[in-house]
Amino acid sequence: MNRPIGVFDSGIGGLTVLKEMVNLLPNEKFVYYADSMNAPYGYRKKSEIIELSSKIVEFLIKENCKVIVIACNTATAAAVHYIRQNYNVPIVGLEPAVKPACLATKTGQVGVLATEGTFRGNHFKTTSEKYKEYVTLHLQVAKGLVQLAEKSVFEGDELMSLLKKYIIPMKNRNIDQLVLGCTHYPLFIDKIKVIAGENINILDSGIAVARRTKDILMINKIFNTEHYGQKIKIFSTNDHNALTYVVSKLFQVGKNPNLVEIKIL
Ligand code: DGL
Repeated sequence: MNRPIGVFDSGIGGLTVLKEMVNLLPNEKFVYYADSMNAPYGYRKKSEIIELSSKIVEFLIKENCKVIVIACNTATAAAVHYIRQNYNVPIVGLEPAVKPACLATKTGQVGVLATEGTFRGNHFKTTSEKYKEYVTLHLQVAKGLVQLAEKSVFEGDELMSLLKKYIIPMKNRNIDQLVLGCTHYPLFIDKIKVIAGENINILDSGIAVARRTKDILMINKIFNTEHYGQKIKIFSTNDHNALTYVVSKLFQVGKNPNLVEIKIL
């Protein structure tokens, strides 16, 4: 079953999820779609996100993808239900790692950084309701971070002051778990760790999504057991430096120059 796995995000954030899939699934090929021209999705209306996501799903189906991973919390929140109902391909969605954070906390205080769209979604509401008697969630819309990543700003004063503005108030409330509820945020992990300090555990959904994808491949008997050589084809709706920078950082393309191919749409 040498068909590729399709993965998409509003931009380059989902590459942090793709990285975990590439690690876990060495026999698979991947097609990644970054809709950077239309990023961020976080402030868009649900109907718009459904429309944008549906176009991408159709593109990935034409690319012959055997499963599609929505590597975007915001697009999952708005569109996963619609997509599952309207397309005949297995879909893996993504949601912030609130459950593992609520189970791991000792202080009973958990911080969550995400977009407006993700906090509005039903998945998020249902999961957080479950633990509300025992765990206080500190929610923060991390405005501006997706835009900085898409502009290839991974250091500097503007980034640091935004991160401090969002994380320090949570730290003052004694959180011991910080959920990165947007796939762009792990791109800032080094800086986030510095601000959060040693006593806060930082969680994202990358590994869980990679395992869920493996599960779906096995259950549907479309898991690749033969090694044809890994390949990642990336399509982006915007030609920008951030994409090449993040790709070279996450996938060590120097060691395997044929691993990634980038096409601008
Ligand atoms: N990576 C997307 C997510 O996980 C970014 C959201 C956006 O485009 O605003 O939610």
